Amino acid sequence: MFSPRLTTALLLSASTLARATPSLSDVLSTTANLSSLNALLTAQLPDLLKTLEGYDSNTNPVTLIAPSNDAFLRLPDTPVLGPAFSDNDTVQINNFMLYHVVPGLHPSTSLNKDGSFQFLDTMLTSNNWTNVTGGQRVGAVLQGDAPPIVVFTSGLSTRSVVTNQDIEFTGGILHIVDAFAVPPMPYVYNADQYDLAYPQDAVLSFTGALYSQPSNLSLATIVNTTSDLTFFVPSNIAMELASEFLAFIPPTALQELLSYHIVHGAVGPLYSSNFTNGTQATTLQGTSITLFFTGGGYFVNSARIIASDILLANGVMHVIDNVLTPDKDSVQPNATTYTQLPVLPTTMVVAGDMFNSSAAPFTTFMPNIVSTVTSTSSVFATGGSGATGTTTGLSATSTGKKSGADGLKQAAHVGVVGSVCVLAFLLGAGWFWTL
Ligand SMILES: *[C@@H]1O[C@H](CO)[C@@H](O)[C@H](O)[C@H]1NC(C)=O
Ligand SMILES: *[C@@H]1O[C@H](CO)[C@@H](O)[C@H](O)[C@H]1NC(C)=O
Ligand SMILES: *[C@@H]1O[C@H](CO)[C@@H](O)[C@H](O)[C@H]1NC(C)=O
Ligand SMILES: *[C@@H]1O[C@H](CO)[C@@H](O)[C@H](O)[C@H]1NC(C)=O
Ligand SMILES: *[C@@H]1O[C@H](CO)[C@@H](O)[C@H](O)[C@H]1NC(C)=O
Ligand SMILES: *[C@@H]1O[C@H](CO)[C@@H](O)[C@H](O)[C@H]1NC(C)=O
Ligand SMILES: *[C@@H]1O[C@H](CO)[C@@H](O)[C@H](O)[C@H]1NC(C)=O
Ligand SMILES: *[C@@H]1O[C@H](CO)[C@@H](O)[C@H](O)[C@H]1NC(C)=O
Ligand SMILES: *[C@@H]1O[C@H](CO)[C@@H](O)[C@H](O)[C@H]1NC(C)=O
Ligand SMILES: *[C@@H]1O[C@H](CO)[C@@H](O)[C@H](O)[C@H]1NC(C)=O
Repeated sequence: MFSPRLTTALLLSASTLARATPSLSDVLSTTANLSSLNALLTAQLPDLLKTLEGYDSNTNPVTLIAPSNDAFLRLPDTPVLGPAFSDNDTVQINNFMLYHVVPGLHPSTSLNKDGSFQFLDTMLTSNNWTNVTGGQRVGAVLQGDAPPIVVFTSGLSTRSVVTNQDIEFTGGILHIVDAFAVPPMPYVYNADQYDLAYPQDAVLSFTGALYSQPSNLSLATIVNTTSDLTFFVPSNIAMELASEFLAFIPPTALQELLSYHIVHGAVGPLYSSNFTNGTQATTLQGTSITLFFTGGGYFVNSARIIASDILLANGVMHVIDNVLTPDKDSVQPNATTYTQLPVLPTTMVVAGDMFNSSAAPFTTFMPNIVSTVTSTSSVFATGGSGATGTTTGLSATSTGKKSGADGLKQAAHVGVVGSVCVLAFLLGAGWFWTL
C-alpha cells in the first residue's frame, strides 16, 4: 500500500499532468501558426469549437487536422473551399472543418511504417458532400526518411503536409498542416481533372461510355447517387485497344461490361489499404473481380492498377491498364510480364507508341461539367511548399511502365528526393508499389 504521503505526491503529480495538457482553445490561442483557425472557430463556428472542446483524450478522443495560417492564405486558390470562404458560407465552411476532424487518436507513430496509406474516416457525413459510409475519408501516410513527414491526402489530389505533429490537447491531438484538405468531388469532376493531368492514361473514354448508355440503362445516375462505389477505370489507351469490339456490342452487353468495372461495397469503398492478394468483390454486374498482388503491384483480374486511391464524393477510383470483362473473370496476371494481354479482342498491335488516345471511343459522350475547380495548377500545387519528403507518383507510374515492377519501386524512391508534389492521387500508386 502507498503511504499517505506518497499517495498525495502521486495525486499532485497526476493533477500537475492534467493541468499540463492544454485545452484546444489554449493551443489555438497560444500557437502563432493557428491564429487564423482560432479566429474562424471562435468568431464563426463557436458551436463546432464547443463540440471539439467536449472530446476527452482518454475516453473519446479526436485527431484534428489543423490548417495553419499559411493554409488560410492559400484559400483563394484552393478548389471547392475557396469560393465558399469568399462567400463566407458558414454551413459549407462548417462541413469543410468537419472533414478535418478524425475520430480516435492518430499520432504520427500510428501510421504505417512501410509508407502505405491509411484511409481514416472523418466527421464529414453530410450527404451534400459525401456518400461514404462512416464519413468521408482522408488519406494518411508517412513519406520520406529521417524523419518521415506526415501527409494527408484528400479530394482533387490535394496534399496537406504536416508541419507540426502530435500536439496534445485535452480532447486528443492535432497536426498542423500547410493546406486545407479538400472534400472529394463526384466521379466526373475527378475524371476531368485526371484527364487534364494525364492525357495518356486519361479516363475520358470510359466516362463517356458510362454516359453513352440509353437512359433506361444509364449508369450515369448510379455513378452519381450510389454510395460506397469503387471504380476500376480503364485508361483511354485500354479502351482504344478494345474499341472495335466495344463499338459493336449491343447496349445491354456494353452495360454489363461497364458495370463489371464498378463495385458497390457493403461496408464501404475498397481503398488500396483494403487490398490483399486474392480479395474478391462483387461488381454491379453481379460477377466478382479478384485482386492479385504480383510483380510488385496490384491487379484486378489481369489488369494492372496504374493509379490508385483517387478519392470521390461517393467512394474511390483506381485506374487500370486493360478493359475487364465478366466473361473472363478467372484470368490472372502473368507475373513474368509487366504488360498483360487484353482480355477483349483487339484490332491494334500491342505497342505503346501506336496508340492515339484522343481517338478513344465514347469520348464525345463525356458530359460537359461546370467545374467548381478554380485552376488546375493551383489544385496540383497545393501543399507543395515545405514538403521535403514528397514524391511524385507521376514519375513512379510512367517510369514503371517502361521498366517493369522494379522500375516502379525505384522510381518511387527516386521521387522521394525533394521533388515538389504534383499529384497526390498517383502518390497512392507510387507508394503503394513499394509495399
Ligand atoms: C509556422 O509555419 C511555418 C510554415 O507554414 C513554419 O515554417 C514555421 O516553422 C511554423 N512556426 C512554428 C512556430 O511552428
Ligand atoms: C462571416 O459570417 C459570420 C457569421 O455568419 C460573421 O460573424 C463574419 O463577420 C462574416 N465574415 C465576413 C468576412 O464577412
Ligand atoms: C445541405 O444542403 C441543403 C440544401 O442546400 C441545406 O439546406 C443544408 O443546410 C445543407 N446541410 C449541410 C449539413 O450541409
Ligand atoms: C448522395 O446520394 C444522394 C442520393 O442517394 C444524392 O442525392 C446526393 O447528391 C449524393 N451526394 C453526393 C455528394 O454525391
Ligand atoms: C431501353 O429502351 C430501348 C428503346 O429505347 C429498348 O429497346 C430496350 O429494350 C430498353 N431496355 C430495357 C432494359 O428496358
Ligand atoms: C452527375 O453529376 C455530374 C456532376 O455533378 C453532372 O454533370 C451530371 O449531370 C450528373 N448526372 C446525372 C445523371 O445525375
Ligand atoms: C477497408 O478497411 C477498413 C479498415 O481496416 C475496414 O474498416 C473496412 O471495412 C474495409 N472495407 C472493405 C470494403 O472491406
Ligand atoms: C497471390 O495469389 C496468387 C494466386 O492465388 C499466387 O499465385 C501468388 O503467388 C500470390 N502472390 C503473392 C505475392 O503471395
Ligand atoms: C507468361 O509470359 C511469359 C513471357 O511472355 C510466357 O513465356 C509464359 O508462357 C506466360 N505464362 C503464362 C501462364 O501464360
Ligand atoms: C489522333 O486522333 C484524333 C481524333 O481521331 C485525330 O484528330 C488526330 O489527328 C490523331 N493524331 C495522330 C497523331 O494520329
